[in-house]
Amino acid sequence: MTDVQTASATHPAPGVLSRIFRTEQDGVPGDGHEQVVLCHDRSSGLKAIIAIHSTALGPALGGTRFFQYATEEEALEDALRLSRGMSYKNALAGLDLGGGKAVIIGDPNKDKNEAMLRAYGRFVESLRGRYITACDVGTYVQDMDVIARETEFVTGRSPENGGAGDSSILTAFGVFQGMRASAQARWGQPTLRGKRVGVAGVGKVGHYLVSHLVADGATVVITDVSEAAVNRVRAAHPEVEVVADTAALLQASLDVYAPCALGGALDDHTVGALGAAGTSVVCGAANNQLAHPGVEKDLADRGILYAPDYLVNSGGVIQVADEIEGFNFERAKNKATKIFDTTLEIFTRATADGVPPAVAADRLAEKRMREISALRTILLPGARRG
Ligand SMILES: NC(=O)c1ccc[n+]([C@@H]2O[C@H](COP(=O)([O-])OP(=O)(O)OC[C@H]3O[C@@H](n4cnc5c(N)ncnc54)[C@H](O)[C@@H]3O)[C@@H](O)[C@H]2O)c1
Repeated sequence: MTDVQTASATHPAPGVLSRIFRTEQDGVPGDGHEQVVLCHDRSSGLKAIIAIHSTALGPALGGTRFFQYATEEEALEDALRLSRGMSYKNALAGLDLGGGKAVIIGDPNKDKNEAMLRAYGRFVESLRGRYITACDVGTYVQDMDVIARETEFVTGRSPENGGAGDSSILTAFGVFQGMRASAQARWGQPTLRGKRVGVAGVGKVGHYLVSHLVADGATVVITDVSEAAVNRVRAAHPEVEVVADTAALLQASLDVYAPCALGGALDDHTVGALGAAGTSVVCGAANNQLAHPGVEKDLADRGILYAPDYLVNSGGVIQVADEIEGFNFERAKNKATKIFDTTLEIFTRATADGVPPAVAADRLAEKRMREISALRTILLPGARRG
């Protein structure tokens, strides 16, 4: 290597690494990461990234995404973004768990095999519990069973293997609790009875949510790009209205809009449409609903109450976290019921502080991480430090 090449290699342009190492600036905590592990197994072809954002509250829990990223840098960006989100989600859910997430680079339909998953399991094991994995996009309970052959630090396994199985049941239950709290805050009663609720996306979570809403006495309007998903809901609840697409749903005179499909559901156009239609509440299961910073303020300025996504959709992580202790559905459901109280607390804090609920949620999560991790300064005789 020439001197010139060496010089340019040692002075790369600031990029994603500067975000990993970002620390406190001007008294504002940085959102840098504790640890990022690049995992490469030549024989199985595994390329994975495990990002541990924070262990302030305990071992970092978050799923493994198996996805065909366009570039490895894009995979790293995703792992960093998702793991940070898990720190906040786990903190607000009241769990003694930090935030982490992993990505496996590849097409889950073509590249996934036993050796690759087990190689990944060995890398998870090498972290000795600093990171606990679970399902995410492209990974399923069967995959967690395979990973569990190499590591104990895995949740979301099948019930036959001591796991909790499908997390969408408690996710939907938690979203319903968040929606009841939103109704309490907006209309003074913790019920959707007599309200018109639109659900965009009636997949695993959405179709369970529809059942809760129908049972509660709401009028439900749905849309989904999948005819099979729509038909499943219609078969169980013939009274549910169906509209052609999300644009039609937004104009369906809704009291509540529940995005339960993809991320980025709340962009400028959607928020404008919700405002024009007089919709009062947004509360749904989809992750990362706010398309860009500022949308949360636009919603608040239009008088639309937004229940933060990572708060109301935490029923799934509450379920997989419970599996770590030996799964008990009633115990997990009781924890998910608390989403009602936390949602109301966020709305109260938002009003008191004059900020949108999304900001109040971030602040409460950061407060818990700060206060609970500070307890480690109290020495317990006999225990290791921390
Ligand atoms: N499953 C969980 O436990 C869980 C936990 C937390 C968050 N979430 C989030 O909730 C959302 C739904 O998750 P899921 O597990 O139900 O997924 P899913 O894939 O089972 O369901 C999503 C549904 O949305 C539909 N859809 C896709 N694009 C659409 C569009 N443009 N308009 C209308 N419908 C569309 C799909 O056809 C599908 O039926 C995702 O954002 C997910 O990240 C899920």
